[in-house]
Amino acid sequence: ANNGLAITPQMGWNTWNKYGCNVDEQLILDAAKAIASSGLKDLGYNYVIIDDCWQKNERESSKTLLADPTKFPRGIKPLVDDIHNLGLKAGIYSSAGTLTCGGHIASLGYEDIDAKTWAKWGIDYLKYDNCYNQGQSGTPKLSYDRYKAMGNALNKTGRPMLYSLCNWGEDGPWNFASTISNSWRISGDVYDNFNRPDPACPCTTYDCVLAGFRCSVMNIINKAVAVSQKARSGGWNDLDMLEVGNGGMNQEEYRVHYTIWAALKSPLILGNDVTNITNTTKEIIMNKEVIAVNQDSSFSPANRIWVKGDQQLFSGNLANNTQVVILLNAGDSAAKMTATWDDIWVYNLPNVDSSRSIEVRDLWKQKSLGNFSNHITLDVPAHGVRLLKFMDSATSS
Ligand code: GLA
Repeated sequence: ANNGLAITPQMGWNTWNKYGCNVDEQLILDAAKAIASSGLKDLGYNYVIIDDCWQKNERESSKTLLADPTKFPRGIKPLVDDIHNLGLKAGIYSSAGTLTCGGHIASLGYEDIDAKTWAKWGIDYLKYDNCYNQGQSGTPKLSYDRYKAMGNALNKTGRPMLYSLCNWGEDGPWNFASTISNSWRISGDVYDNFNRPDPACPCTTYDCVLAGFRCSVMNIINKAVAVSQKARSGGWNDLDMLEVGNGGMNQEEYRVHYTIWAALKSPLILGNDVTNITNTTKEIIMNKEVIAVNQDSSFSPANRIWVKGDQQLFSGNLANNTQVVILLNAGDSAAKMTATWDDIWVYNLPNVDSSRSIEVRDLWKQKSLGNFSNHITLDVPAHGVRLLKFMDSATSS
């Protein structure tokens, strides 16, 4: 997008997963205050994003968008000012269609007017959806042109606004969106479930066109691995917003969710009630060492190396010659998993010293597991992960 934003994946909070259409000024202000005072802001969660259903359903005579006066009696600008005064940034939502997915007024054909309005309000971030697109999809070029119109409009305002595409992977945004946006959704909507197949989310691969919704965490992971390497600094695969803390998964399942989102360099956008965070939720979303994997300066998404039944191994480069390694057990019972140095550095073969002794750190526990050579074998909980940092590399070049 050439706007200098999302050098590392964006972090923040969005209203949708928890509140859906029930948004108003007070709710967003309370969330922003909680983000600023709870330590979330200091960890990097800095965008406060208003999702769908903030709009009034008619434009002003000048065609300007308006906020729903009942939900936002002061309008959007004073709320944005309050968010800025808390040291946070403000995001808003619209659709590259005639209506949003919630049936509210949207921006197709009004790109310049709406981008100018948001710039005037002080908006820092746009999530731009795909509903009611008037059939302007089905080929990458149709989708590209429709989304580029808003990208151009945002750039023309002169105000840097992070541009987050939400077209659910339609027409392969990882191929067409990286020069016009900062992130692009790769699947139908996440829901708060670990692995339940749902008819509303029929696709398990990209040979299938109906993105759908109610996609489980494992469904999204199994799709994301195919496109993980399309991400780069300034343009990220968006695995969708986080469900951690919303109650539908157990602690180990939320750990899988957060781990893979972090390592594949998805934006980390919280979707829970941040005014009332339990200690178990804090344990997941406030672990500095895990967040550091996502924000690492090598900007390098992890790869899935293999799948053996319910078990999966991921490995990726981190800065300073270190490596992130994930043992994922999607099975219903705990398992011992082994990863060899040749697996972990498979893309560097034959320059791998398999006998090399390397210190391994457990990032969820934030402690060293000691030194290992050749391979590592660990217990992995059911529906769980071990997230490891190899403090050195086994490659000799
Ligand atoms: C779509 C998006 C969701 C959310 C809703 C709002 O389903 O994918 O993330 O923004 O619309 O209506």
